Amino acid sequence: MAQTSVMDKLVSLCKRRGFVFQSSEIYGGLGSVWDYGPLGVELKRNIKDRWWHAMVRARDDIEGLDAAILMHPKVWEASGHVAGFTDPLIDCKTCKARFRADQVGDAACPQKPSKHPGEHTTCALTEPRMFNLMFKTVMGPVEESGSVVYLRPETAQGIYINYLNVLQSSRQKIPFGIAQIGKAFRNEITPGNFIFRTREFEQMEMQFFVKPGDDTEWFERWRGLRMAWHQELGLNPDKLRWHPHVESELAHYARAAYDIEYEFPFGWNEIEGIHNRGDFDLSNHQKASGKKLEYFDQAANTRYLPNVVETSAGADRITLTVLADAFREEEVEGETRAVLGFLPSVAPIKAAVLPLVNKDAMPEMATELFNDIRKKFSCFYDDGGAIGRRYRRMDEVGTPFCITIDGQTATDQTVTVRHRDSMAQDRIAIDAVTRYLSERLV
Ligand code: GAP
Repeated sequence: MAQTSVMDKLVSLCKRRGFVFQSSEIYGGLGSVWDYGPLGVELKRNIKDRWWHAMVRARDDIEGLDAAILMHPKVWEASGHVAGFTDPLIDCKTCKARFRADQVGDAACPQKPSKHPGEHTTCALTEPRMFNLMFKTVMGPVEESGSVVYLRPETAQGIYINYLNVLQSSRQKIPFGIAQIGKAFRNEITPGNFIFRTREFEQMEMQFFVKPGDDTEWFERWRGLRMAWHQELGLNPDKLRWHPHVESELAHYARAAYDIEYEFPFGWNEIEGIHNRGDFDLSNHQKASGKKLEYFDQAANTRYLPNVVETSAGADRITLTVLADAFREEEVEGETRAVLGFLPSVAPIKAAVLPLVNKDAMPEMATELFNDIRKKFSCFYDDGGAIGRRYRRMDEVGTPFCITIDGQTATDQTVTVRHRDSMAQDRIAIDAVTRYLSERLV
Protein backbone atom coordinates (compact mmCIF):
# COMPACT_ATOMS: atom_id res chain seq x y z
CA MET A 1 0.00 0.00 0.00
CA ALA A 2 1.35 3.47 -0.84
CA GLN A 3 2.18 5.35 2.35
CA THR A 4 -0.06 8.32 1.67
CA SER A 5 -3.06 6.29 0.70
CA VAL A 6 -3.07 4.31 3.94
CA MET A 7 -4.11 7.41 5.90
CA ASP A 8 -6.69 8.37 3.25
CA LYS A 9 -8.19 4.89 3.45
CA LEU A 10 -8.21 4.93 7.23
CA VAL A 11 -9.84 8.38 7.44
CA SER A 12 -12.46 7.30 4.93
CA LEU A 13 -13.16 4.02 6.78
CA CYS A 14 -13.42 5.93 10.08
CA LYS A 15 -16.08 8.22 8.65
CA ARG A 16 -17.99 5.56 6.68
CA ARG A 17 -18.18 3.10 9.55
CA GLY A 18 -18.79 5.61 12.36
CA PHE A 19 -15.46 5.85 14.16
CA VAL A 20 -14.61 9.54 13.70
CA PHE A 21 -16.42 12.50 12.08
CA GLN A 22 -15.22 16.02 11.49
CA SER A 23 -16.70 18.37 14.08
CA SER A 24 -19.46 20.71 12.82
CA GLU A 25 -19.27 19.09 9.39
CA ILE A 26 -22.59 20.55 8.20
CA TYR A 27 -21.10 24.04 8.70
CA GLY A 28 -17.94 23.18 6.78
CA GLY A 29 -16.08 21.73 9.77
CA LEU A 30 -14.04 23.28 12.56
CA GLY A 31 -10.27 23.12 12.11
CA SER A 32 -8.67 20.11 13.77
CA VAL A 33 -11.59 19.25 16.03
CA TRP A 34 -13.15 15.80 15.67
CA ASP A 35 -16.16 13.89 17.00
CA TYR A 36 -16.25 10.18 17.82
CA GLY A 37 -19.09 8.14 16.32
CA PRO A 38 -20.72 4.98 17.72
CA LEU A 39 -17.73 2.69 17.10
CA GLY A 40 -15.07 5.31 17.82
CA VAL A 41 -16.46 6.10 21.23
CA GLU A 42 -16.35 2.39 22.16
CA LEU A 43 -12.79 1.98 20.87
CA LYS A 44 -11.48 5.04 22.70
CA ARG A 45 -13.33 4.09 25.89
CA ASN A 46 -11.81 0.60 25.80
CA ILE A 47 -8.33 2.12 25.48
CA LYS A 48 -8.97 4.53 28.35
CA ASP A 49 -10.40 1.70 30.50
CA ARG A 50 -7.29 -0.39 29.85
CA TRP A 51 -5.07 2.51 30.90
CA TRP A 52 -7.18 3.20 34.01
CA HIS A 53 -7.08 -0.45 34.98
CA ALA A 54 -3.30 -0.72 34.58
CA MET A 55 -2.55 2.59 36.29
CA VAL A 56 -5.16 2.79 39.07
CA ARG A 57 -7.16 -0.37 39.72
CA ALA A 58 -4.31 -2.86 39.42
CA ARG A 59 -1.96 -0.86 41.69
CA ASP A 60 -2.01 -0.02 45.39
CA ASP A 61 0.18 3.06 45.00
CA ILE A 62 -1.84 5.16 42.51
CA GLU A 63 -5.11 7.02 43.20
CA GLY A 64 -7.56 8.37 40.64
CA LEU A 65 -8.70 11.98 40.21
CA ASP A 66 -11.06 13.95 37.98
CA ALA A 67 -10.15 17.63 38.38
CA ALA A 68 -12.09 20.45 36.70
CA ILE A 69 -10.95 21.82 33.34
CA LEU A 70 -11.22 25.40 34.61
CA MET A 71 -8.73 26.33 37.33
CA HIS A 72 -7.64 29.50 39.08
CA PRO A 73 -5.67 31.60 36.56
CA LYS A 74 -2.73 31.72 38.98
CA VAL A 75 -2.25 27.98 38.38
CA TRP A 76 -1.05 28.75 34.86
CA GLU A 77 1.21 31.59 35.99
CA ALA A 78 2.85 29.35 38.59
CA SER A 79 3.15 26.41 36.19
CA GLY A 80 5.02 28.57 33.68
CA HIS A 81 2.40 28.14 30.97
CA VAL A 82 1.45 31.83 30.75
CA ALA A 83 5.06 32.79 30.12
CA GLY A 84 6.46 29.67 28.53
CA PHE A 85 3.80 27.64 26.70
CA THR A 86 4.43 29.37 23.42
CA ASP A 87 5.40 28.72 19.83
CA PRO A 88 7.36 31.20 17.71
CA LEU A 89 5.14 32.41 14.85
CA ILE A 90 5.80 34.22 11.59
CA ASP A 91 3.05 36.05 9.67
CA CYS A 92 3.03 36.86 5.98
CA LYS A 93 1.70 40.40 5.46
CA THR A 94 0.86 39.61 1.83
CA CYS A 95 -1.19 36.42 2.08
CA LYS A 96 -2.03 36.71 5.84
CA ALA A 97 -0.93 33.10 6.42
CA ARG A 98 0.76 32.15 9.69
CA PHE A 99 3.60 29.64 10.11
CA ARG A 100 5.59 28.21 12.98
CA ALA A 101 9.04 29.81 12.74
CA ASP A 102 10.77 26.46 13.29
CA GLN A 103 8.73 24.79 10.49
CA VAL A 104 8.94 27.35 7.68
CA GLY A 105 11.23 25.01 5.73
CA ASP A 106 8.47 22.34 5.66
CA ALA A 107 5.48 24.69 5.25
CA ALA A 108 3.78 25.61 1.96
CA CYS A 109 3.06 29.22 0.96
CA PRO A 110 -0.62 29.50 -0.11
CA GLN A 111 0.44 31.42 -3.26
CA LYS A 112 0.92 29.46 -6.49
CA PRO A 113 3.15 27.93 -7.78
CA SER A 114 3.79 25.88 -4.68
CA LYS A 115 6.84 27.16 -2.75
CA HIS A 116 7.99 27.54 0.85
CA PRO A 117 7.06 30.76 2.72
CA GLY A 118 9.47 33.56 1.83
CA GLU A 119 10.37 32.12 -1.60
CA HIS A 120 7.93 34.23 -3.67
CA THR A 121 9.07 37.77 -4.46
CA THR A 122 5.78 39.05 -3.00
CA CYS A 123 6.19 37.25 0.37
CA ALA A 124 6.50 39.67 3.29
CA LEU A 125 7.36 37.66 6.39
CA THR A 126 7.45 39.26 9.85
CA GLU A 127 10.04 38.55 12.52
CA PRO A 128 9.06 35.59 14.76
CA ARG A 129 6.69 36.49 17.63
CA MET A 130 5.80 34.26 20.57
CA PHE A 131 2.22 32.98 20.52
CA ASN A 132 0.64 31.38 23.61
CA LEU A 133 -1.12 28.08 22.89
CA MET A 134 -3.66 28.34 25.73
CA PHE A 135 -7.31 29.05 24.95
CA LYS A 136 -8.69 31.89 27.06
CA THR A 137 -12.23 32.52 28.18
CA VAL A 138 -13.93 34.83 30.66
CA MET A 139 -15.52 33.74 33.91
CA GLY A 140 -18.39 35.83 35.28
CA PRO A 141 -21.47 37.44 33.75
CA VAL A 142 -19.85 40.59 32.34
CA GLU A 143 -17.05 40.13 29.87
CA GLU A 144 -15.20 43.36 30.75
CA SER A 145 -15.14 42.81 34.51
CA GLY A 146 -14.91 39.01 34.49
CA SER A 147 -11.63 37.30 35.13
CA VAL A 148 -9.73 35.53 32.38
CA VAL A 149 -9.55 31.78 32.82
CA TYR A 150 -7.85 29.21 30.62
CA LEU A 151 -8.96 25.89 29.21
CA ARG A 152 -6.27 23.62 30.64
CA PRO A 153 -3.51 22.71 28.15
CA GLU A 154 -2.51 19.66 30.25
CA THR A 155 -4.34 17.71 32.94
CA ALA A 156 -1.22 17.49 35.12
CA GLN A 157 -1.77 20.80 36.94
CA GLY A 158 -5.12 19.61 38.34
CA ILE A 159 -3.13 16.81 39.98
CA TYR A 160 -0.47 19.08 41.52
CA ILE A 161 -2.97 21.42 43.07
CA ASN A 162 -4.86 18.43 44.56
CA TYR A 163 -1.77 16.51 45.66
CA LEU A 164 -2.21 17.29 49.37
CA ASN A 165 -5.97 16.58 49.28
CA VAL A 166 -5.37 13.16 47.73
CA LEU A 167 -2.42 12.39 49.99
CA GLN A 168 -4.35 13.20 53.16
CA SER A 169 -7.66 11.61 52.16
CA SER A 170 -6.17 8.39 50.80
CA ARG A 171 -3.51 7.97 53.52
CA GLN A 172 -0.94 7.14 50.86
CA LYS A 173 2.77 7.44 51.57
CA ILE A 174 5.50 8.48 49.20
CA PRO A 175 6.20 6.99 46.69
CA PHE A 176 2.68 7.19 45.30
CA GLY A 177 0.92 8.51 42.20
CA ILE A 178 -2.24 10.29 41.06
CA ALA A 179 -3.79 9.49 37.69
CA GLN A 180 -6.45 11.20 35.66
CA ILE A 181 -8.04 11.14 32.23
CA GLY A 182 -9.50 14.34 30.87
CA LYS A 183 -9.82 16.92 28.16
CA ALA A 184 -7.01 19.33 27.33
CA PHE A 185 -7.00 22.20 24.83
CA ARG A 186 -4.21 23.76 22.79
CA ASN A 187 -4.51 26.38 20.09
CA GLU A 188 -2.07 24.44 17.90
CA ILE A 189 -0.66 26.36 14.95
CA THR A 190 0.05 23.36 12.81
CA PRO A 191 -2.50 20.74 13.80
CA GLY A 192 -3.20 17.88 11.47
CA ASN A 193 -2.84 14.26 10.47
CA PHE A 194 -6.44 13.50 11.39
CA ILE A 195 -6.76 12.98 15.18
CA PHE A 196 -2.97 13.01 15.72
CA ARG A 197 -2.67 16.70 16.62
CA THR A 198 -5.93 18.43 17.46
CA ARG A 199 -7.00 21.52 19.36
CA GLU A 200 -9.25 19.62 21.77
CA PHE A 201 -8.02 16.23 22.97
CA GLU A 202 -7.95 13.89 25.93
CA GLN A 203 -4.91 13.10 28.03
CA MET A 204 -4.24 10.10 30.26
CA GLU A 205 -1.70 11.43 32.74
CA MET A 206 -0.12 10.13 35.91
CA GLN A 207 2.13 12.06 38.29
CA PHE A 208 4.25 9.88 40.57
CA PHE A 209 5.55 11.62 43.71
CA VAL A 210 8.91 10.38 44.97
CA LYS A 211 11.61 11.30 47.45
CA PRO A 212 14.23 13.63 45.94
CA GLY A 213 17.12 11.45 44.82
CA ASP A 214 14.81 8.53 43.94
CA ASP A 215 13.52 10.32 40.81
CA THR A 216 15.98 8.82 38.30
CA GLU A 217 15.27 5.28 39.43
CA TRP A 218 11.49 5.82 39.21
CA PHE A 219 11.87 7.55 35.85
CA GLU A 220 13.56 4.42 34.47
CA ARG A 221 10.96 2.16 36.07
CA TRP A 222 8.07 4.11 34.55
CA ARG A 223 9.75 4.11 31.14
CA GLY A 224 9.78 0.32 31.21
CA LEU A 225 6.18 0.02 32.44
CA ARG A 226 4.79 2.39 29.85
CA MET A 227 6.57 0.79 26.90
CA ALA A 228 5.27 -2.61 28.09
CA TRP A 229 1.71 -1.20 28.22
CA HIS A 230 1.86 -0.16 24.56
CA GLN A 231 3.17 -3.57 23.56
CA GLU A 232 0.41 -5.30 25.53
CA LEU A 233 -2.07 -3.14 23.64
CA GLY A 234 -1.06 -5.22 20.64
CA LEU A 235 1.00 -2.54 18.86
CA ASN A 236 3.70 -3.86 16.56
CA PRO A 237 6.92 -3.66 18.66
CA ASP A 238 8.97 -2.86 15.52
CA LYS A 239 6.97 0.35 15.17
CA LEU A 240 7.69 1.54 18.72
CA ARG A 241 10.89 3.29 19.77
CA TRP A 242 12.33 5.73 22.28
CA HIS A 243 13.20 9.33 21.54
CA PRO A 244 15.33 10.88 24.30
CA HIS A 245 15.01 14.67 24.55
CA VAL A 246 18.20 16.65 24.16
CA GLU A 247 18.56 19.83 26.23
CA SER A 248 17.01 22.10 23.56
CA GLU A 249 13.90 19.88 23.24
CA LEU A 250 13.04 19.74 26.95
CA ALA A 251 9.77 21.35 28.02
CA HIS A 252 10.10 24.23 30.49
CA TYR A 253 9.25 21.91 33.42
CA ALA A 254 11.40 18.88 32.55
CA ARG A 255 14.75 17.73 33.91
CA ALA A 256 14.76 14.73 31.58
CA ALA A 257 12.28 13.36 29.08
CA TYR A 258 11.78 10.43 26.74
CA ASP A 259 9.04 10.12 24.15
CA ILE A 260 7.59 6.81 23.08
CA GLU A 261 7.28 7.13 19.32
CA TYR A 262 5.24 5.11 16.84
CA GLU A 263 5.89 4.78 13.13
CA PHE A 264 2.69 6.16 11.56
CA PRO A 265 2.13 6.09 7.78
CA PHE A 266 3.25 9.78 7.95
CA GLY A 267 6.45 8.97 9.90
CA TRP A 268 7.75 8.46 13.45
CA ASN A 269 5.91 10.58 15.99
CA GLU A 270 5.43 10.91 19.74
CA ILE A 271 2.53 9.06 21.34
CA GLU A 272 3.51 9.39 25.02
CA GLY A 273 5.98 11.43 27.05
CA ILE A 274 7.72 10.27 30.23
CA HIS A 275 9.08 13.28 32.11
CA ASN A 276 11.19 13.82 35.18
CA ARG A 277 9.67 17.11 36.37
CA GLY A 278 11.75 17.31 39.56
CA ASP A 279 10.04 19.65 42.05
CA PHE A 280 9.40 22.31 39.38
CA ASP A 281 5.61 22.31 39.71
CA LEU A 282 5.20 21.76 43.44
CA SER A 283 7.80 24.37 44.36
CA ASN A 284 6.21 26.94 42.03
CA HIS A 285 2.72 26.24 43.40
CA GLN A 286 4.05 26.41 46.95
CA LYS A 287 5.61 29.80 46.24
CA ALA A 288 2.62 31.23 44.36
CA SER A 289 -0.10 29.95 46.70
CA GLY A 290 1.76 30.48 49.94
CA LYS A 291 0.59 27.03 51.03
CA LYS A 292 3.15 24.49 52.26
CA LEU A 293 3.17 21.49 49.96
CA GLU A 294 5.91 19.55 51.73
CA TYR A 295 5.57 15.91 52.61
CA PHE A 296 6.27 14.81 56.17
CA ASP A 297 8.17 11.55 56.20
CA GLN A 298 7.23 10.13 59.61
CA ALA A 299 9.71 7.25 59.58
CA ALA A 300 12.67 9.57 58.88
CA ASN A 301 11.12 12.54 60.75
CA THR A 302 11.94 14.87 57.83
CA ARG A 303 10.03 17.16 55.51
CA TYR A 304 10.67 17.55 51.81
CA LEU A 305 9.07 18.64 48.57
CA PRO A 306 8.58 15.51 46.45
CA ASN A 307 9.96 15.10 42.96
CA VAL A 308 7.59 14.05 40.22
CA VAL A 309 7.86 11.50 37.43
CA GLU A 310 5.11 12.01 34.88
CA THR A 311 3.68 9.66 32.27
CA SER A 312 1.57 11.55 29.73
CA ALA A 313 -0.29 9.91 26.86
CA GLY A 314 -2.94 11.25 24.49
CA ALA A 315 -6.09 9.11 24.36
CA ASP A 316 -6.92 10.32 20.85
CA ARG A 317 -3.39 9.85 19.62
CA ILE A 318 -3.29 6.31 20.98
CA THR A 319 -6.68 5.64 19.40
CA LEU A 320 -5.15 6.72 16.07
CA THR A 321 -2.12 4.53 16.78
CA VAL A 322 -4.35 1.52 17.46
CA LEU A 323 -6.34 2.19 14.27
CA ALA A 324 -3.23 2.65 12.10
CA ASP A 325 -1.52 -0.40 13.57
CA ALA A 326 -4.61 -2.58 13.12
CA PHE A 327 -5.51 -1.55 9.56
CA ARG A 328 -4.61 -3.90 6.73
CA GLU A 329 -5.89 -4.96 3.32
CA GLU A 330 -5.59 -8.49 1.95
CA GLU A 331 -6.51 -10.28 -1.23
CA VAL A 332 -9.05 -13.02 -0.52
CA GLU A 333 -10.52 -15.02 -3.39
CA GLY A 334 -9.88 -12.21 -5.86
CA GLU A 335 -11.37 -9.52 -3.61
CA THR A 336 -9.81 -7.00 -1.27
CA ARG A 337 -10.62 -7.57 2.36
CA ALA A 338 -10.11 -4.58 4.72
CA VAL A 339 -9.45 -5.61 8.31
CA LEU A 340 -8.96 -3.78 11.58
CA GLY A 341 -7.02 -6.44 13.48
CA PHE A 342 -7.56 -4.95 16.96
CA LEU A 343 -6.59 -6.72 20.14
CA PRO A 344 -9.95 -8.41 20.93
CA SER A 345 -10.38 -6.59 24.25
CA VAL A 346 -10.24 -3.12 22.63
CA ALA A 347 -12.45 -3.98 19.63
CA PRO A 348 -15.62 -1.84 19.69
CA ILE A 349 -17.79 -4.86 18.87
CA LYS A 350 -16.65 -8.12 20.43
CA ALA A 351 -18.98 -10.49 18.61
CA ALA A 352 -21.59 -10.40 15.86
CA VAL A 353 -24.54 -12.78 15.85
CA LEU A 354 -25.69 -13.74 12.37
CA PRO A 355 -28.63 -15.98 11.41
CA LEU A 356 -27.59 -17.68 8.15
CA VAL A 357 -31.05 -17.10 6.65
CA ASN A 358 -34.16 -15.39 7.94
CA LYS A 359 -36.27 -18.52 8.26
CA ASP A 360 -36.42 -22.00 9.87
CA ALA A 361 -36.32 -20.55 13.42
CA MET A 362 -32.78 -19.20 12.83
CA PRO A 363 -33.69 -15.54 13.65
CA GLU A 364 -35.39 -16.62 16.89
CA MET A 365 -32.38 -18.68 18.02
CA ALA A 366 -30.00 -15.91 16.97
CA THR A 367 -31.98 -13.27 18.88
CA GLU A 368 -32.00 -15.39 22.01
CA LEU A 369 -28.24 -15.90 21.81
CA PHE A 370 -27.68 -12.20 21.06
CA ASN A 371 -29.73 -11.12 24.10
CA ASP A 372 -27.78 -13.53 26.22
CA ILE A 373 -24.23 -12.54 25.26
CA ARG A 374 -24.91 -8.79 25.10
CA LYS A 375 -25.33 -8.88 28.89
CA LYS A 376 -21.58 -9.32 29.05
CA PHE A 377 -20.06 -8.08 25.77
CA SER A 378 -20.72 -5.37 23.24
CA CYS A 379 -22.39 -7.29 20.39
CA PHE A 380 -24.01 -6.64 17.04
CA TYR A 381 -26.92 -8.44 15.36
CA ASP A 382 -26.86 -8.55 11.58
CA ASP A 383 -29.34 -10.41 9.39
CA GLY A 384 -28.95 -8.35 6.21
CA GLY A 385 -27.38 -9.71 3.01
CA ALA A 386 -25.15 -12.63 2.05
CA ILE A 387 -23.16 -14.16 4.92
CA GLY A 388 -19.83 -13.41 3.18
CA ARG A 389 -20.71 -9.70 2.97
CA ARG A 390 -21.72 -9.67 6.62
CA TYR A 391 -18.35 -11.21 7.60
CA ARG A 392 -16.53 -8.53 5.56
CA ARG A 393 -18.48 -5.73 7.25
CA MET A 394 -17.43 -7.08 10.63
CA ASP A 395 -13.77 -7.51 9.52
CA GLU A 396 -13.70 -3.88 8.47
CA VAL A 397 -14.68 -2.68 11.96
CA GLY A 398 -12.43 -5.19 13.72
CA THR A 399 -15.00 -7.56 15.27
CA PRO A 400 -12.95 -10.57 16.38
CA PHE A 401 -15.75 -13.17 16.36
CA CYS A 402 -18.82 -13.84 14.19
CA ILE A 403 -21.27 -16.40 15.51
CA THR A 404 -23.52 -17.94 12.88
CA ILE A 405 -26.76 -19.79 13.52
CA ASP A 406 -27.31 -22.21 10.64
CA GLY A 407 -29.44 -25.21 9.65
CA GLN A 408 -27.55 -27.50 12.02
CA THR A 409 -28.20 -25.33 15.10
CA ALA A 410 -31.80 -26.48 15.56
CA THR A 411 -30.83 -30.14 15.43
CA ASP A 412 -27.69 -30.24 17.61
CA GLN A 413 -27.64 -26.83 19.40
CA THR A 414 -24.30 -25.85 17.91
CA VAL A 415 -23.15 -22.68 16.15
CA THR A 416 -20.09 -21.71 14.13
CA VAL A 417 -17.59 -19.17 15.45
CA ARG A 418 -15.67 -17.48 12.67
CA HIS A 419 -12.35 -15.82 13.54
CA ARG A 420 -11.61 -12.42 12.02
CA ASP A 421 -7.88 -12.88 11.39
CA SER A 422 -7.60 -16.49 10.21
CA MET A 423 -11.19 -16.68 8.89
CA ALA A 424 -11.18 -20.24 10.33
CA GLN A 425 -14.40 -21.55 11.87
CA ASP A 426 -14.99 -23.60 15.01
CA ARG A 427 -18.21 -25.41 15.78
CA ILE A 428 -19.22 -25.15 19.43
CA ALA A 429 -22.29 -25.69 21.60
CA ILE A 430 -24.59 -22.68 21.73
CA ASP A 431 -24.55 -22.69 25.51
CA ALA A 432 -20.72 -22.57 25.51
CA VAL A 433 -20.55 -19.29 23.55
CA THR A 434 -20.26 -16.92 26.55
CA ARG A 435 -17.45 -18.95 28.11
CA TYR A 436 -15.73 -19.31 24.72
CA LEU A 437 -15.75 -15.53 24.24
CA SER A 438 -14.69 -14.78 27.84
CA GLU A 439 -11.61 -16.95 27.41
CA ARG A 440 -10.59 -15.15 24.23
CA LEU A 441 -11.46 -11.52 24.95
CA VAL A 442 -8.23 -10.54 26.64
N1 GAP B 1 1.75 17.07 30.92
C1 GAP B 1 2.77 16.89 29.95
C2 GAP B 1 2.32 17.06 28.59
O1 GAP B 1 1.23 17.52 28.34
P1 GAP B 1 3.06 16.77 26.10
O2 GAP B 1 4.26 16.05 25.54
O3 GAP B 1 2.83 18.17 25.70
O4 GAP B 1 3.23 16.65 27.68
C3 GAP B 1 1.66 14.59 26.23
O5 GAP B 1 1.77 15.94 25.79
C4 GAP B 1 0.86 13.76 25.25
O6 GAP B 1 -0.40 14.38 25.01
C5 GAP B 1 1.52 13.62 23.88
O7 GAP B 1 2.43 12.54 23.86
C6 GAP B 1 0.31 13.32 23.01
O8 GAP B 1 -0.03 11.94 23.07
C7 GAP B 1 -0.80 14.14 23.66
N2 GAP B 1 -0.97 15.42 22.96
C8 GAP B 1 -0.29 16.58 23.16
N3 GAP B 1 -0.74 17.54 22.33
C9 GAP B 1 -1.72 16.99 21.58
C10 GAP B 1 -2.58 17.48 20.55
N4 GAP B 1 -2.53 18.74 20.14
N5 GAP B 1 -3.47 16.62 20.00
C11 GAP B 1 -3.56 15.33 20.42
N6 GAP B 1 -2.78 14.83 21.40
C12 GAP B 1 -1.87 15.64 21.99
